[in-house]
Amino acid sequence: MSPSHNPRDLEFTDHDFQRIRKLIHDHAGIALSDAKRDLVYSRLTRRLRIHEFDTFAEYISLLEKQNDEWELFVNSLTTNLTSFFREPHHFPILSEHIASIRQRQPILLWCSAASTGEEAYSMAITMAELFNSFNPPVRILATDIDTHVLLKARSGIYTQDKIEKLSDATRRRFFIENADNTVTVHPELRNMINFQQQNLVSSNWLFRGPFDAIFCRNVMIYFDKETQTKILRNFIPVMRRDGLLFAGHSESFHHANDLFTIKGRTVYGIAQTSQSLAQA
Ligand SMILES: C[S@@+](CC[C@H](N)C(=O)[O-])C[C@H]1O[C@@H](n2cnc3c(N)ncnc32)[C@H](O)[C@@H]1O
Repeated sequence: MSPSHNPRDLEFTDHDFQRIRKLIHDHAGIALSDAKRDLVYSRLTRRLRIHEFDTFAEYISLLEKQNDEWELFVNSLTTNLTSFFREPHHFPILSEHIASIRQRQPILLWCSAASTGEEAYSMAITMAELFNSFNPPVRILATDIDTHVLLKARSGIYTQDKIEKLSDATRRRFFIENADNTVTVHPELRNMINFQQQNLVSSNWLFRGPFDAIFCRNVMIYFDKETQTKILRNFIPVMRRDGLLFAGHSESFHHANDLFTIKGRTVYGIAQTSQSLAQA
């Protein structure tokens, strides 16, 4: 059998796994457990084939000297599962919070691990419904480390099955049907959102807020507690004092209760002790 037909023909040692683990942890904060060894192999196989390498050691050497490969390396190792109105209990809470501060304009929201865009568009739909307008006084920043998913997010094009759980009214109001079994998000909804690449772990964030709410859902789970705390600490200066932080269903920030305190189911507010670091 030729090497390209054998799924396990590439040399991948424990040492290679440890090096890859360190590279992705140092760069993106992603902490890979021992159990993720097979996943790393399968996710990176395509990159090795493209470069015609037989060993992971060759690929790691390329990464160490060639910056262009980094983007594709990171894109290969991220997990991008998402959906419209995932963990739906958060959206009425977002709506109520923004309703209570609606005189503050513009309202700024940050979707900080936006993946292919469904979460940011769900936030935009929630705001369009709250203000009963396709042009509400709301700006949404949507970021992700993965450049590939951001391309999809910006396109605003999804297959029909991605919106099948939404109500008929929401589908009709916010999506345009295309001929090829896909839908396009309404352009005015799209205009509310600015999609940008941003690594949450980087200490160099390109924006200052002040954000009235941050969605940081189902991404902290990939980071160790130390990285989580660093990110949480960085959120505070770009948030309003009364801003809300939304986390994923299996994420909790009890270890950083000097920074954020729980206000509802996986919803956090800035702790009293850190209020002075946030924006008024
Ligand atoms: C499982 S998806 C969650 C998407 C969405 N927030 C949701 O809950 O449906 C996790 C996303 O986090 C992104 N991600 C991973 N590490 C990141 C980092 N260091 N900075 C920014 N985004 C990151 C991944 O690229 C991926 O798109």
